[in-house]
Amino acid sequence: MASSSLPPQERVSRIEKQALWIATLFTALTIALIAYSVFALHASVPTCMPNMPVFKHGSIIKHGDKNYEVDFLARMWRFEPSKVVVPVGSTLDVAVTSKDVTHGFQILGTDVNLMALPFVLTTGHVHFDKPGIYHIVCHEYCGAAHQNMNALIEVSNQVDDISAEGLPSLDAAHALADAKGCLACHSTDGTVTVGPSFKGLWGQTSQLADGNTRMVDASFIKSMILHPEATPIKGFDPVMPAQALTDDEIDQLTTYIQELQ
Ligand code: CUA
Repeated sequence: MASSSLPPQERVSRIEKQALWIATLFTALTIALIAYSVFALHASVPTCMPNMPVFKHGSIIKHGDKNYEVDFLARMWRFEPSKVVVPVGSTLDVAVTSKDVTHGFQILGTDVNLMALPFVLTTGHVHFDKPGIYHIVCHEYCGAAHQNMNALIEVSNQVDDISAEGLPSLDAAHALADAKGCLACHSTDGTVTVGPSFKGLWGQTSQLADGNTRMVDASFIKSMILHPEATPIKGFDPVMPAQALTDDEIDQLTTYIQELQ
């Protein structure tokens, strides 16, 4: 046989060349299949953006007629929002992140199958042209009540616009701020009283009594609630008492301040 008459080095290099060709062929085939599923079958390719500023609460955003963005916050053991109703023919950009541990996020019956990770934004895209109930499940084991972690999207021909349930309510946050006594010293209409107004506070640069500055963000609000004595604000008497609020309550107040821009 011709090949066995070749010197051993050349026989090896021939086998290597064959292996390289096979590998190249499979790589090209894989790329072609991905391209085919994206362009011909319109499969959505999930994207993952680590180290992006992520949202702290779920929300629904209208981008145009029947064109919406839904930000789902996964947390033990529910999704926020828990139910979204959209009209038939809607296109949804879905963004997912987690408040605590790793969760899964799959909209059954669609191509959207994502992971929900803390500090990471994953996104998907889905178009609904048939009415029906589309269940959302967490498919990553996330603790005791993992099996109860679900939500749903209802695609309906009875509605004209998007609506959602299970989102944090501003009324509830206002009631909380009132119940905890915050509103005695912080107005919500821009009037400066004992303390700065909540209105327009978010994102501002606070001048501290010690000459430093701090941006009003979630971490500063948290530290001002738990340890106001640590960072007195210039121009205000340091009379704010520390408030023993839970993380959830602090989150609600943070969202409240954020919404009062
Ligand atoms: Cu969340 Cu399983």
